Amino acid sequence: MSASFASRLGIEHPLIQAPMAGSTSPALVAAVSNAGALGSLGAGYLEPQAILDQAAQIRALGDRPYAIGLFVLPDEFEADMAAVARAREQLDALMAREGIDVRTRVPARWAPRFSEQFAALCEARPAVASFAFGVIDPAQRRELRRRDIVVIGTATTVAEARAWADAGADAVSLQGAEAGGHRGTFLHEPEDAMIGLFALLPLAARAVDIPVIAAGGIMDGRGMLAAEVLGAAASQLGTAFLACPECPAAEAWKQDLPRVEEHQVATIRSFSGRAARGLRNRFVEAMPQAAQGLPYPVLNALTAPLRRAAAAAGRGDLLSEWCGQAAAMVRPQPAAELVARLMHEYRMAKRSLAH
Ligand SMILES: Cc1cc2nc3c(=O)[nH]c(=O)nc-3n(C[C@H](O)[C@H](O)[C@H](O)COP(=O)(O)O)c2cc1C
Repeated sequence: MSASFASRLGIEHPLIQAPMAGSTSPALVAAVSNAGALGSLGAGYLEPQAILDQAAQIRALGDRPYAIGLFVLPDEFEADMAAVARAREQLDALMAREGIDVRTRVPARWAPRFSEQFAALCEARPAVASFAFGVIDPAQRRELRRRDIVVIGTATTVAEARAWADAGADAVSLQGAEAGGHRGTFLHEPEDAMIGLFALLPLAARAVDIPVIAAGGIMDGRGMLAAEVLGAAASQLGTAFLACPECPAAEAWKQDLPRVEEHQVATIRSFSGRAARGLRNRFVEAMPQAAQGLPYPVLNALTAPLRRAAAAAGRGDLLSEWCGQAAAMVRPQPAAELVARLMHEYRMAKRSLAH
């Protein structure tokens, strides 16, 4: 299963570096893809031109298959501007108390338009398109098929995996509760869809007849093999790649990862307004009341300049330190070396089980 799925994607190893919006770079994606796994550009926050530019950079670094990941969202968002004003005041006061000179601002748009991002993805024509937060429509599915782009949908429950299979996905990435970053949940309340990967994988694998991909808490080759035993055609790792030198995550965040204790990694809405798994740090604890009710992507846009300023000041405790529950197992090393190490561990684990 894993060999045939990898060959369908045109890759050597059943290993996917997760699309991580804001935390991937062309250098990371190309390094992973050139090492024989699937590198993925997390393009959820990128405007269309940036998607095209970064795709061109990836192609300039190698001609191996890679993925672009988007969030399926409406094109326009309404915001309660009185609530925004109250939240801004309190967020600005919080940063001032922390000694960081930065102000929130209202952007021209709360998020890039999905339809325009989708058009840019089609133009960039990566081997794989990966989606989270919702399901694409039939016309979009046809567009991707016409361009021979493989579609991976994200699901956090069996019902969501079925929805993606019905929508014509080629594979579904199962995001276990352990996973770092935003929850991909779109059919349920996120609190109801925190299914552990060991339960979700075999349940979904028997419910859909497309390949399933395992995501959440996998940090080494043993984890990849365990996922395969439970029915996964490939493993998708996010947190494991965060500490790579090619990853653009803030240095303070990278340094915090090996010290993370699993009980500190919570599902929070504090930075973006949408449930996401990350470190419960100082910002999360001090999150002002007025900002807590703001929805995604409004809160995400408001906190973006604050997070950038915190990163520049080396204050990991004030930025969104997304990570999965097994973050402490992270191994900082170049992405190509990490891919080779993961595959070596995977093969060794397989061999030791055979004896
Ligand atoms: C920093 C970060 C950003 C993420 N951004 C995205 C994203 O843009 N799109 C997406 O489909 N998944 C995203 N994810 C979730 C991953 O696809 C995957 O489910 C998760 O990383 C697996 O768990 P792990 O981090 O324990 O390996 C993100 C994860 C992290 C850690």
